[in-house]
This record gives sequence, structure tokens and C-alpha cells, in this order.
Amino acid sequence: MPVLSIEPEPADDALAEVPRVAAFAAAYPGYLATTGLDELRAAEYGYLDAGGHVYLDYTGAGLPAEAQVRAHVQRLGERCFGNPHSENPASAASTQLIERTRQAVLKYFGAPPDEYAVIFTANASAACRLVGEAYPFGRGSHLVLTSDNHNSVHGIREFARARGAAVAYVPFGSPQLRVDDDAVRSALRRYGPSRGLHGGLFAYPAQSNFTGVQHPLGWIDVAHDYGYDVLLDAAAYVPANRLDLSVHRPDFVPVSWYKMFGYPTGVGCLIARREALARLERPWFAGGTISAVSVMTDWHALSAGEAGFEDGTPSFLHIPDVEFGLSWASGIGISLIHERVRCLTGWLLDRLAAMRHGNGMPMARLYGPANTVQRGGTVAFSLLDPRGDAIDVQTVERDMAVAGISVRTGCFCNPGAAEAAFALTVADVARARGSNARTPDDYAASAGIPGGGAIRASVGLASNFADVHRLLAAIETTYRDQEQPRSGGLRSAGYPDLAEGAS
Ligand SMILES: Cc1ncc(COP(=O)(O)O)c(C=O)c1O
Repeated sequence: MPVLSIEPEPADDALAEVPRVAAFAAAYPGYLATTGLDELRAAEYGYLDAGGHVYLDYTGAGLPAEAQVRAHVQRLGERCFGNPHSENPASAASTQLIERTRQAVLKYFGAPPDEYAVIFTANASAACRLVGEAYPFGRGSHLVLTSDNHNSVHGIREFARARGAAVAYVPFGSPQLRVDDDAVRSALRRYGPSRGLHGGLFAYPAQSNFTGVQHPLGWIDVAHDYGYDVLLDAAAYVPANRLDLSVHRPDFVPVSWYKMFGYPTGVGCLIARREALARLERPWFAGGTISAVSVMTDWHALSAGEAGFEDGTPSFLHIPDVEFGLSWASGIGISLIHERVRCLTGWLLDRLAAMRHGNGMPMARLYGPANTVQRGGTVAFSLLDPRGDAIDVQTVERDMAVAGISVRTGCFCNPGAAEAAFALTVADVARARGSNARTPDDYAASAGIPGGGAIRASVGLASNFADVHRLLAAIETTYRDQEQPRSGGLRSAGYPDLAEGAS
């Protein structure tokens, strides 16, 4: 019989919290079916509890299982691996494992090998850059992006503009910081090339790294119908959700593997439809990407398929760790991970929304949906003092660090979500631009972002109830009824109050 516990914690405290555990179990009964993950945590992620660490930054990075590291060491101890791109045995050994990993990636995502290619990159950002710098933007073509995007996707607009393409944003449309389906369709229609032509790129995240919102995968087909290629940023989505590329067929999918299973860092990939890949125009060549090059005649021939996009020596000692990571994730089961993440996210949202100071004022304000419908395990919020002023996030990050809790604060490289969450105006941004701010914190201060940004707690594969409970308890004990130096209240400009919109 699985037992829900908030161990390790002093017995008296644990007893005092029994009603909370019972309330959680009643609200999220699906959690009990995931208690196998507690055994896994004890066996493979033991460094968390050994160090008394509460890790709640899974959107920043997943965590490695000890088995992943063991597999790496074992592999390197068993064989000699050399730089690929040669026929010698050490080189061939590396090539063989890299190709096997490519197949494993395709299989994991259900991507037909004749339709999709896997290009290994340093990370998701490098995958975005590969697309941006080579996409055939030109006059008359468009880049359409949701305002909700990571900077590594926003950056593609610099390539688009440099080549004369128009850039259009689809704004946020709801208090929960979703993007309206109608707004997406109308932007695609308005800016789109005529049907059947490939004249534009539509880029959006499957899951927001700021709010956890999961945007509809159905937009891929809609955009295709309007003649767009689609870049689906899956970096924040795949760690706890199934992406089936036999059902949803985006053209370009950037991923960072450390976000999915913690190890290895330094390896990501671009999963790309071969047909779309063939239309990219690489702006340069490098070692590993050419089948032939001449200095005398200033000529080169790019290698076909994925090889033409992998600059220089791939991370040949670490790419095979991705194959292990994928089998690790498959062995656990993505639906099990998804369910645990869903339950813990729901509880975190419920409790944050319910927390009150003694005077009845809310202690927290959520950014994004307040329930688990079409959202992932990323929860962004501000903490408020009893007067309703936002508590400075650097103070929160420091206080949480003292309690052994890793959360992230700021704007998370998602400026569109930050602008909407904090209801910034063009004048606010102009002021920040004119302020010579040199750091993100300076920028937030000069734009007048209350508290300097948001706090982001994100759960994942190895999270448990105790992690979420400890964060909530630390917030309650540190900030309940504590007035802070005045920082100003939060605005809601245009949207109904986010807390009210929460349902
Ligand atoms: C949604 C999303 N896209 C892209 C990235 C960029 O990933 P990386 O820094 O690994 O390149 C991140 C990183 O946080 C992300 O959350």
C-alpha cells in the first residue's frame, strides 16, 4: 500500500501537517499511483535528500539519475572512442553510437525516419539559430511569433529582418496569459503567404517557460494550411509530456536534453522535417558539414541531410548519453512523470492561491493558469506583503536559498510574458531602454517591474510532495504578516485581476 509522506522532517512537524497530506491526497488522488517515483528518487536521486535539498527548478534543468552517470563512465571504460568523420575503429565506434542515438531520438518521438532528421546541436538555442540563420527569409515573407517565446526564439527575428522579412507578433489574449486561437489564425491569415506557398515561419513554444501554458499543437496544421513552416519550441514541454511527431508534424523542433533528463549538458538537437531542411540555406560551412571544398576555385558542396548542419566535431562522448537518457525516460514512462507533475503543480497552485495574511490579503499572485488544464509544471508568481506590495525577488531567492530551496527568479528569458504579466507599457520599456541598464535586474528596476520580476517554481520527474510542502511552508513562515520595504503594487492593465481570473 503506497504511503504518502512528507519525510524527511521532524516527527512533530510531520504530525502537524497530516491534514495537509490528507487534503492533497484527496484533491489529487492520481499522485498515489506515482509513488514508484519515490523509490526511484531514493535509489537514483539520493543526493537530493542526502543534502536536504529542495530542487524546484526543473524548467531550468532536469536532474540526472546516478544510473546515467554510471552508464557514461562504464561506456568510456569499455571502448576507445575517437573523433567521428573517419573510418578508423575509434572513429567508427563513435559514429556508430551517434547514429544509434539519432535513431533512438526518432523512435522516442514517433518520427518517421524518412520524414524527419535529427541534428545534434549544443542546446535548444543553437537549434533555433540553425533555423534562423538559414531560413529563406526575404521580402514578402514573414516571421510570425507568439509574444510568449523564449529569447532564443525571439532572436530569430534579427535574421528575418536582416533579410527583409516582416516580423509579426501574436499578443497574449487572456488573464491566464494564454494566446487566443482566433488571434493566431487571424495573424497567420493576415500575414501569411497564399495557400500552398512556403513563404513564412511561425514559431511558438509547446509550453511556456514562464507561465507553464501549453499552447495548442493543433496550430501546427493551421499554420501549414496557411503555407507556413512551423518551429515548435519543445524545450520546456518534453520533460513531462509526450510529443508524438507521427501525429503533430512541425517542421523544426528544438530540444535541450539536460532539460529532459539532466544529463548530458551541452547536447541538444534540432528535429527537422527533411523537406523543410532541404529548403534551408546555410550561411557558411565548417568541418564536418561539407562533402567537398576547394580553396583554389572557391567552391564547396554541403553534405546532404543532417551532416550538413552539424558544425565541427559533435559531442561524441556525450551524444550516446542521450540514447541512455531516452531509454531511462521511457522506462519510467512519460505518462507517470506527467501525472506526478500534474498533481504537484495543482497543489502548488491551489495553496499559493489560497494563502492569506492575517488581514485577509492574498500572499501570492499567480501568472498563468491557476489550474492544471493545458498547463505544465512551471508556476510563476509574485509574493505580496500584507499591504499588497510585491516582495523583492532577490530577497525571496536569498531566503529560499537559506532554507535549501532552489527556485528561480526574474523574467526567465521570456520578455513577452514578463511585459504582459507586469502590465508594462511602451513608456515603461522606453524608460528602461534609456536607463543604460546593464543587467536584467537593472532593466527590471528601470522598467518599474514590481519586486524586480517573478518567482518560478517548477516540478519534474524526481519532485515529491515534501518538496512542494517545504516551499509553501518556507513562504508562509517567512512572509506571513511581514511588511516589506515599499516596492509598489502590481498592475493588471487591461486584464481582469489574474487572481480573480483563476479558476
Ligand atoms: C522554452 C525554452 N526554449 C528554449 C530554451 C533555451 O534552452 P537552452 O538554454 O538549453 O539553449 C529554454 C531554456 O530555458 C526554454 O525554456
